[in-house]
Amino acid sequence: MRRVYLDNSASTRVDDEVVEAMLPYFTEQYGNASSTHQWGQHAKQAIEDARAQVARLLNAQPTEIVFLSGGTESDNLAIKGIAAAHCSRGRHIITSAFEHPAVLASCDQLEAQGFTLTRLPVYREGIVRLKDVRAALTDETILVTVMLANNEIGTIQPIAEIGALVAERRAAGQRHLHLHTDAVQAVGKIPVDVKQLGVDLLTFTAHKIHGPKGVGALYVRRGVRITSQMHGGRHERDRRAGTESVPLIAGIGKAAELARVHMDERAVHMRQLRDYLEAQIIERIPDVSRNGDAEQRVPGVANFNFDFVEGEGLQISLDLKGIAVSTGSACSSGSTEPSHVLLAIGLPRDSGHGSLRFSLSKDTTREEIDYVIETLPAIVEKLRKISPRTKKKTAEHAE
Ligand SMILES: Cc1ncc(COP(=O)(O)O)c(C=O)c1O
Repeated sequence: MRRVYLDNSASTRVDDEVVEAMLPYFTEQYGNASSTHQWGQHAKQAIEDARAQVARLLNAQPTEIVFLSGGTESDNLAIKGIAAAHCSRGRHIITSAFEHPAVLASCDQLEAQGFTLTRLPVYREGIVRLKDVRAALTDETILVTVMLANNEIGTIQPIAEIGALVAERRAAGQRHLHLHTDAVQAVGKIPVDVKQLGVDLLTFTAHKIHGPKGVGALYVRRGVRITSQMHGGRHERDRRAGTESVPLIAGIGKAAELARVHMDERAVHMRQLRDYLEAQIIERIPDVSRNGDAEQRVPGVANFNFDFVEGEGLQISLDLKGIAVSTGSACSSGSTEPSHVLLAIGLPRDSGHGSLRFSLSKDTTREEIDYVIETLPAIVEKLRKISPRTKKKTAEHAE
C-alpha cells in the first residue's frame, strides 16, 4: 500500500543532514557542555554554533536565543516568565482565541492566579484585527501574545503591525509592555525577522522544520527581563536550568540553517502542490469549503470543511488507504470535541467535525497529491451515503 504523509504541521521527517549533524554528539563528543575538559568544550562549541545558526534564521543575536525542550516549554517560559518578572507593573495579558494550547493553558493558569485576560476574536478569516488589539490595550497590559501562523488553518497574523502598536505605547512610557509570538508554524515557511516583527519574545521548535523532537528555542530580545521557570544550574544565562541536550541542539541548528538556505524553494514547492490539491478537491467534491483566509497564510497547509460527514471518519478511512492527515491539532486529536480553532473562526459545532487539515512538506510529491485526489472523493461519497447528517439534510429538503 502507498503511504502518503500529509501531517507535517504535526511533525516532520528529520532530514538526513540533520541526523548526521547530531550523531557525533551521541557517540563521540558526549561531554557535558558545562565541563571544562575537551569533551565539555566541544559540546559547548556545538551549542554556540547552533545558537548562531538559529539566530541567523531569525535575524537575532546569538545571546538572545535560549534553548529548551520545544514549543510548549518556550511558550510557557515566555508567558509565565514575563508575568512573573513584570507583575508588579500590571496584570493584564492579551492573547487570541485560537492560540496553541501551550499558550492558552499558560494564560489560563495566570488567570487563575489573578491576572486579567483578553482573548481577541479572529473572525471567519482567522485573523486578529489590529483595532481589537488597540482597544484591548490598557496601562495594566504587560504582555500581548499572538501567534504568527495558526497551526490548524495556517493563517498569518499581523504581528509587525501589533509590534508597531506596542512600540508606540512603549515610547509613550509603558515600558513593561511586551510582545510575544508563537512562530512555531511560521519559521522556515515564511521569512521571520524578529526586528521587522518588533517582537520581544518568539517561540520556535525544531520538529516542524525537519529537526528532532524535544528541542526548541525562545528568542528573548536583549534587555528583556524574564523569570526562569526551571530552577537548578545556571545554564542558558540563567534562563533555563538543566544540562543541555547537545545532540538535539546540534540538530535544531542544522535544521535552522537548512530552513534558511532553502526557504524560498521549499515555499514555492509547497504552495504549488497545496494550491493544486485545493483546486482538485473543490472541483471534484461537492459541498466542501475552505477554512481560513485564502491569501494570508503559510504555504503547505489546507484546511477543508466537508459537509454531512464526520472528520474522524474521513481521517480513519484515509489512514486505511495509507494517507495521514489530521482533524485538528495533534494535541487535541483523540478528543471528540470540535477544534477550538474552528469554533473560533465561527464554524458551528457540528460542522467542525467534518474538517480535515492537509499539511505538506518540502518532501511531498505531485504523485502523492494525485493519489490523495484519486482516493478522497470516493471516501467522502461513501461516508456521506451512510452519514446521519446526510439523512437529516435530505429530510430537511423534503420538508
Ligand atoms: C503553534 C504551535 N505552538 C506550539 C507547539 C508546541 O510545540 P512542541 O510540540 O515543540 O512542544 C505546536 C506544536 O504542535 C504548535 O503548532
